[in-house]
Amino acid sequence: MKTERHSRRDFIRKSTAATAAVGTFSVFPASVVFGKPAPSDQVNVALIGCRNMGFGILKHHLDNDDVNCVAMCDVDSGLLQERVTEVRKTYGDEPKRYSDYRKMLGQKDIDAVIIGTPDHWHCLNMVDAAAAGKDVYVEKPMANTIEECNIMTAAASYYDRVVQVGQQQRSSNVFRETMSMVRSGTIGPLRKVNIWANFNYGLGATPVMDEPVPDGVDYDMWLGPAPSRPFNRNHFHGSWRHYWNYGGGMFSDWGVHLIDMGLWVKNQVKAPTEVMTFATNNSGFEKSRDTFDTMNVMFPTKDFVINYDMTAGVQEGPYDNLYGISFIGDRGTIKADRSGYRVIPEWDGDKKEFMTEAKEFNKGGETHAEHVRNFIDCVKSRKTPACPPEVGRVAALHVHVANISARIGEPYLVWDDRNNRFSNSERANSYIVPQYRAPWRLPDIL
Ligand SMILES: NC(=O)c1ccc[n+]([C@@H]2O[C@H](COP(=O)([O-])OP(=O)(O)OC[C@H]3O[C@@H](n4cnc5c(N)ncnc54)[C@H](O)[C@@H]3O)[C@@H](O)[C@H]2O)c1
Repeated sequence: MKTERHSRRDFIRKSTAATAAVGTFSVFPASVVFGKPAPSDQVNVALIGCRNMGFGILKHHLDNDDVNCVAMCDVDSGLLQERVTEVRKTYGDEPKRYSDYRKMLGQKDIDAVIIGTPDHWHCLNMVDAAAAGKDVYVEKPMANTIEECNIMTAAASYYDRVVQVGQQQRSSNVFRETMSMVRSGTIGPLRKVNIWANFNYGLGATPVMDEPVPDGVDYDMWLGPAPSRPFNRNHFHGSWRHYWNYGGGMFSDWGVHLIDMGLWVKNQVKAPTEVMTFATNNSGFEKSRDTFDTMNVMFPTKDFVINYDMTAGVQEGPYDNLYGISFIGDRGTIKADRSGYRVIPEWDGDKKEFMTEAKEFNKGGETHAEHVRNFIDCVKSRKTPACPPEVGRVAALHVHVANISARIGEPYLVWDDRNNRFSNSERANSYIVPQYRAPWRLPDIL
């Protein structure tokens, strides 16, 4: 059945294209054209952090007939205006604009909030949204520190909210099939999970001088709980991820997705117990960042080992892929990435036969849309989504324990999850809880 909303969107897309083609541009607000009493099966969403991923995820929401955008918030007013205009033109929605997300959360008609802010904001945004009775789609990594992940997991349960973490590979058929092949014994007993991620962007940006805060930006609100520092473009939109105060480098950015697959294969929702880390800044490029460009991390588990191998600035990797994951068993290897998988059998020299069947699939791709749809369905059904907070937490913890190990130069750390501490390093323990800049305070929920 074509809903009224679908027709309205079709109309807006078509009329936008038509008016653009004749060189004029005028789109009536949809509410004026059609009227828009939201039926009870509609989900009203709001977005905090509108620049890149957050906006992409909002669009994936709005591509569904049963989702409306009722509010958008950003601390960069020029960017916010652009994004609101795009939403109005493309989808016909009329979101209210906010620069302070706390004010936005008072808007009664918001059912769910999408969080697309830098990692250092996720915890406050999420807990405040949950406390305001909203469900939450929060981008990965779940948060920038271990304690924030703990708080968010507790908050989701305390406020009884549906929370989806943006590890969208959990909604991928490529990875679902890969998991089921490994679990059903296609490659024999699993011995190793090898992960690699080599991307140029992991080096960070070319150094630039500090400068005045750009017009229209509430920089103090961008920093939020992070320490104060003069404005610098490299510490801002997009490239913040290379500075510890806001992100965890390429490991927490990309590695978290792939580590998540290494845990999912055994349905392991367990924090790491031990980590061995080697990390340096070895590239000769003049780039600005705190985080590492070269990392090797090992997580031993009872039955198998997860290896993470990262060389930022290099666009080559095993199997001619700059990132990927391989599951290695006695009888074969399954190599996977978002686009597909390949089963590579081992040869049995005695029997003169392959130990498993070769197989290949390469019609996968990005799965944000599927992950978003799963979230919307769960908002309606109140079921647990594909990547609940417990799953987001353990993936993020794997990244954080390794980053802490590298930052303090102690290559072997033992994590005691029950007591929320490292049992062999007091120095490492000082990195568990972030120091928030006043007046911001860690939510008091644990
Ligand atoms: N799932 C994925 O594949 C994927 C891919 C890329 C990024 N991400 C995640 O998405 C998040 C955002 O990354 P990005 O690349 O879009 O960053 P970005 O810097 O491009 O965008 C962040 C936006 O948040 C806004 N912002 C900052 N503080 C704010 C506040 N207090 N209130 C409102 N808005 C605020 C900024 O002005 C900016 O518009 C990160 O957590 C990142 O790890 C996920």
